[in-house]
Amino acid sequence: MMESIWKSKILDNLCSGDYLSIWRDYGTVGIVGTIFIGILIAFLLPSIFLVRKRWKQRGVPVEVGGEPGYAVRNARVAELSQVPWKEATTMATLFEQSCRKHSQNKFLGTRKFVSKEFVTSSDGRKFEKLHLGEYEWQTYGEVFDRACNFASGLVRFGHDVDSRAAIYAETCAEWLIAFQGCFRQNITVVTIYASLGDEALIHSLNETEASTLICNSKQLRKLLAIGSSLTTIQNIVYLEDAGYETDFISSENMSKWKVASFTEIIKLGTENPVVPSLPSSHSIAVVMYTSGSTGLPKGVMISHGNIVATATGVMTVIPRLGVDDVYLAYLPLAHVLELAAETVILSAGLAIGYGSPLTMTDTSNKIRKGTKGDVSVLRPTLMTAVPAILDRVRDGILKKVEEREGLVKKLFHIGYNRQLAALEGSWFGAWGLERMFWNVLIFKKIRSALGGRVRFMLCGGAPLSGESQRFFNICMGATIGQGYGLTETFAGAAFSEWDDTSVGRVGPPLPCCFIKLISWEEGGYRTTDKPMPRGEIVIGGNCVTAGYFKNPEKTNEVYKDDEKGMRWFYTGDIGTFHPDGCLEIIDRKKDIVKLQHGEYVSLGKAEAALLSSKYVDNVMVYADPFHNYCVALVVPLRPALEKWAKEAGINYGDFVQLCENGEIISEVQRSLSKVAKDAKLQKFEIPEKIKLVADPWTPESGLVTAALKIKREQVKAKFKNVLEQLYK
Ligand SMILES: *[C@@H]1O[C@H](CO)[C@@H](O)[C@H](O)[C@H]1NC(C)=O
Ligand SMILES: *[C@@H]1O[C@H](CO)[C@@H](O)[C@H](O)[C@H]1NC(C)=O
Ligand SMILES: *[C@@H]1O[C@H](CO)[C@@H](O)[C@H](O)[C@H]1NC(C)=O
Repeated sequence: MMESIWKSKILDNLCSGDYLSIWRDYGTVGIVGTIFIGILIAFLLPSIFLVRKRWKQRGVPVEVGGEPGYAVRNARVAELSQVPWKEATTMATLFEQSCRKHSQNKFLGTRKFVSKEFVTSSDGRKFEKLHLGEYEWQTYGEVFDRACNFASGLVRFGHDVDSRAAIYAETCAEWLIAFQGCFRQNITVVTIYASLGDEALIHSLNETEASTLICNSKQLRKLLAIGSSLTTIQNIVYLEDAGYETDFISSENMSKWKVASFTEIIKLGTENPVVPSLPSSHSIAVVMYTSGSTGLPKGVMISHGNIVATATGVMTVIPRLGVDDVYLAYLPLAHVLELAAETVILSAGLAIGYGSPLTMTDTSNKIRKGTKGDVSVLRPTLMTAVPAILDRVRDGILKKVEEREGLVKKLFHIGYNRQLAALEGSWFGAWGLERMFWNVLIFKKIRSALGGRVRFMLCGGAPLSGESQRFFNICMGATIGQGYGLTETFAGAAFSEWDDTSVGRVGPPLPCCFIKLISWEEGGYRTTDKPMPRGEIVIGGNCVTAGYFKNPEKTNEVYKDDEKGMRWFYTGDIGTFHPDGCLEIIDRKKDIVKLQHGEYVSLGKAEAALLSSKYVDNVMVYADPFHNYCVALVVPLRPALEKWAKEAGINYGDFVQLCENGEIISEVQRSLSKVAKDAKLQKFEIPEKIKLVADPWTPESGLVTAALKIKREQVKAKFKNVLEQLYK
């Protein structure tokens, strides 16, 4: 499950690791080190010759059809790319050919289950702890056979190939095998986040009339409870979770469905092969339900052509993919970012090791003390992440550093700043040997938090702050590729190139699409703006999907075909193009509110600024157009708040009461005003009144999406009274 996943649990775990403890031993090493630094700096000044000017033209303006605007294409390709290689026009052939080409390579890895136990915490809650072993690998050849057998098995089991199959399961090897298996019979797969609530699940299955549901054995019990609402489902295939009882499957309650395990389906198919019936590039491969920021989830219809187009585009931007690369897969496969990333990895014939947010590191919540987390065993070189995760990891490590005494802290900051200077192109930064020196002395140990070998992180889902990007460049030694894309464009749109060391931008358009800015007069963003054109981001090309399932109105609102037959998607995001052709996301149409006196408040911009306060875990700024100021709901970071309360000698009962304490509220507000001024927010953009909300916002609470973006409408509805109070 994605249970309170990222923010609260793994991240804290990841951050609470003891990987800095070795620094205790650095007392003497440190002193000697400092002397060395002086010498090294003097000797290594010649390394300034290594300084390269990294400015280059990455995107170029282009003439295209459709609505007038400022359009850009990738500088490296004159024509939009469509397929990674000639025959791979669908996900099915891409997969088949990659499997044949790399048949002996390691492909999918799953950790061996050793044992499971429950521990009871002091407050009586029970926690599951796992002991997991080494990764067990299947080769490309083996995976291909299993996918074929799954396809045959599914047909023999009674799945009608003209109906859809839904996958509602956690990220794992079987997910991908079942997914690829469906394509061997041209079956459209419906994907649903394992963390979506019952209502969304029922809606998605009903709307797509799915007849087979593929889920985890853990979820079977839940299905019993909502069984009467699942009117279209006839077959259930469950992926066996190690250590879970499934003895109730034979019970009367399950009898309305045909139920079989993944293994049984494979066996059935192995014994009774069925001739494959492959899709064409226009066939719909996936109906992907996104946990939208409003209302019920929408299903996006993704064709085989869309998938291979994005994969082709992204393959060109990840640096030097090689056979030694190992990818850690742990984000939900039902999220387009993860699915696109795994598609790229499999196109390149690399290994994918599966993990989960709750078992990621040695100190993760579900990992039994003394046993190893996924990253320690797998030692990945590539991974995907969303900014909320990276920010938390950064905060956690910085906190550890701040807690340290004197020398270690100083050395960290010197080393960090020397490398930062180099990254930002200064001649006097840490280059060459000096850089290696800092890496060995300081950063090597920090790197072990993620296994020690991560060299590239693909980041998407929301904009990543410049500080976090730099932090990972330096402390993890990893290049961060920032991507920008949406489910509606199968994650493809823009992607920063690995040799681009700037921050805060998402790179030029991918080779599979054009990106166009269109003036938005009302919001004051125009393509004629100086110094750089600004406007709503519109994406055109091979990765643009067919539209929303059974929702032509919504589809026609945001998708348009131009006179040349190119399909464009209107994102509602506001962007600007830098002179080198790189895109920067600056705002969101929906998040701009016009106040009583005509000023525009950008809620997203204000929130991004306020998040940097040390007291803030999450924040939603709210602006009522009938007033001339805005207010905010703040989810505080509990430790920071309690620490301040203790120092200020405030007596309080529980945390909820603390959040209502006037002094605390004033302190948080002071902090907000300060960070807002630092970020140059206008006075009317700084919340005049705030409310501290004690309970964290998690995906299960429905207040944030699985990618941890605020669901404004839901938060507004839940805190309606509070917001009204704030305007009294
Ligand atoms: C399922 O969809 C049908 C229309 O296709 C609708 O009449 C019915 O109420 C829906 N059922 C549920 C449980 O949502
Ligand atoms: C089957 O359904 C009955 C009645 O609804 C319930 O009491 C029983 O616990 C269910 N069995 C399982 C294994 O869920
Ligand atoms: C595959 O299925 C789609 C429905 O999604 C159908 O339109 C198409 O004709 C099928 N393709 C082939 C080659 O059977």
